[in-house]
Formats: sequence, C-alpha cells, structure tokens
Amino acid sequence: MTAHVDEARLEEYMRRILGYMTGSAVCYGIWLGDELGLYRVLAEEGPARPDEIAAKAGCNPRLVREWLDGQAASGLISYDADDDSYDLSGEAAMILADDTSPVFTARAMNAVGAFYADFDTLTAAFRGTGALGWADHSPRLFEGTEWMFRSGYRLYLPDWIAALDGVQAKLAAGARVADVGCGHGASVIAMASAFPNSRVWGFDFHQPSIATARKRAEEAGVTARATFEAAPANGYPGSFDLICFFDCLHDMGDPVGAARYAREHLEPDGTVLLVEPFALDDHVANLTANPVAPLFFHASFAVCAPNSLSQPVGAALGAQAGEARLRKVFEEAGYTRFRRAAETPLNLILEARP
Ligand SMILES: C[S@@+](CC[C@H](N)C(=O)[O-])C[C@H]1O[C@@H](n2cnc3c(N)ncnc32)[C@H](O)[C@@H]1O
Repeated sequence: MTAHVDEARLEEYMRRILGYMTGSAVCYGIWLGDELGLYRVLAEEGPARPDEIAAKAGCNPRLVREWLDGQAASGLISYDADDDSYDLSGEAAMILADDTSPVFTARAMNAVGAFYADFDTLTAAFRGTGALGWADHSPRLFEGTEWMFRSGYRLYLPDWIAALDGVQAKLAAGARVADVGCGHGASVIAMASAFPNSRVWGFDFHQPSIATARKRAEEAGVTARATFEAAPANGYPGSFDLICFFDCLHDMGDPVGAARYAREHLEPDGTVLLVEPFALDDHVANLTANPVAPLFFHASFAVCAPNSLSQPVGAALGAQAGEARLRKVFEEAGYTRFRRAAETPLNLILEARP
C-alpha cells in the first residue's frame, strides 16, 4: 500500500487536517474569549500584561496567560516581549470585542460550540430517522445563530430592502411586515429600527427564542412597532405587505407549504423576501468553487436538515439548496415571479411575488 502513497500529497493532506484541527481549537478560544470578556478588556486596556488583563476580567491569571499566548500564536492578538504585554488591533476589536460593530463575529462561536455539545444526539439522529428538532439542541445554538447573522442584517438589510421592487417606499410610508422563523429577532429589530412608520411581527415556533426576541426588542427600544408571537410557519395570523424568511426556509419541514401559507397572507401586491445561504446551482461547482460551502454543509447536516426531518413532510432542502431549487419551491407554491435581488458572499437575497 505504501508503494502507492504520494508523499507530497500525503503531507499536503495532513497539513490540511491539522489546519482544520487548529481552526476548531482557535474557534474554541474565541468563544471563551468573548464569554469571559477577555477581548473587551484587551480592547479597553491594551496593551496590557496578563495579570492586569486577568484581574480586569476576574479570571485566573495563569489560565489567562495561556489563553493570551494561544491567541498570539494564532495571529489574533499581538505580543510585545519588551514589557510582556498583549494587544488587540482596531480591526480585531471590531470582529472580536465590539458587539455593536457591523462585523462582530466572536459570539457566533456559540454555534460552533453547540455542534460539539450536541454530538451524541446528532450521532443518534444519523443512526436513526435523521430527525433532530431545533428545540432539542444546546441553547448555545440559538445564541450562536443570532450572532452569526445579526451583524450582517444590521449592515445589509437596508440594501436588501432597497433591492426589492417598490418595497422600500412602502416600508418608509408605513407597512405591515412579517418575519417568519425570526429566531431571536435580529432582523425584526433591524427593520423596526430602520422603518419607524412600519410594524413588524416576528413569528417562530420556538417559544424560548420568542421570549429572548422580546427582551432584545425591549433593549433596542422598539417594542411599540416590533411584536413577537410563537407560531409555526403555517399558522400565524394577519395579512402583510412584506413577508420575510431569513436563513430559515430550508430548516422547515415543508418549505412549499410555508411559501404557500405566506402567499395566502400577503396583500395582493405584496412581496416575499427570502434570504438563504449563498450557494451555486451547479452541484460540482458549488463543492469546488463556493468558499462558504464547507461551513454551510457542516451546519446543514448538524442542524438544518435534521430540523427539517423532524417536521411533517421533511423536505430537508439543506442549507445549500441554491437559487434554482428555491425557485421551484415558490413556483410550486403558486408564485408567478421570482428573482435574485441581491447577493453577499454569505447570502442569496431572493424576491418572490404572487
Ligand atoms: C437558522 S434559524 C434562523 C433564525 C433567524 N431567522 C435568524 O436569521 O437569526 C432557523 C429558525 O427557524 C425556526 N423554525 C424552524 N422550523 C420552523 C417552523 N416550521 N415554523 C416556524 N419556525 C421554524 C427555528 O425555530 C429557528 O429559529
């Protein structure tokens, strides 16, 4: 067997595996750094010595020094040997320390942590029916999902609304908006903040997420125009000018049923805004030329597809469905118009109309 082994390829492959192992360990360190407030101390106090950082964060100094060295070795923070101090650059602080920044990402590591925490239940799902419902995951997943998308919604949502046909003017004047599968409500709050004349309803079948969303709306001061109700995608009341699905349609058991229900609850000239993970329609191209495919496929087998399989119909579209398959969903649900309104490296922004 060794006779057929190409040493260079073996080495290259091993390097890749070690890179992935390192990446997962570094994600763990980032998750911890955010949870313990270590990045925030570094951003406020840096450059600072390990003992000062540990004291400010209320953490054990020996463990903090080890964490700091891990972060410095990973290139995330800098070390000055002359005075034994560590520092965070302004750019790193935006991504790791400042949760109001449009590129803040550290807290999304909760989702990565949930993958590991849910290992035993997911293993059982793989060996069984494939079903693992949203509510049966570690709560870390709900927070991680919120922070995975929240910064991007704040940054891009106004552009996405502007890319839809005539919707921005309606929302500016005052419209009724539903956000289905709203999770912790980040997109509801972003819309309620940007369009003070409009009212936004967030619906999700996961009651604990709705409770958190209500808290978030209070913190953001938008409770007068952002309302949250626990309801499934085929069971919310009201009629709307705009119905949104943010990174959730593919998680649902019956995406066609959810799209059809939305059509029945749209005003005649209403719009569906569908935001889904970026994917290429050509399967091989998607596997080889879409840089976000590895992350989304791993999230898909760990969370999205098992969640869909836990619900009636169990379509399991997956987090890499792509525009062509999503178009079919909306055609089957009776929509006559469907187009890509915008895209980002992470998302496809699609518009569907009755
Ligand atoms: C990946 S999360 C996205 C949450 C939120 N839209 C966001 O972007 O942060 C998927 C959400 O869909 C919700 N969900 C899944 N199936 C649902 C269903 N059939 N009806 C209502 N909500 C559902 C889950 O509870 C979860 O909050």
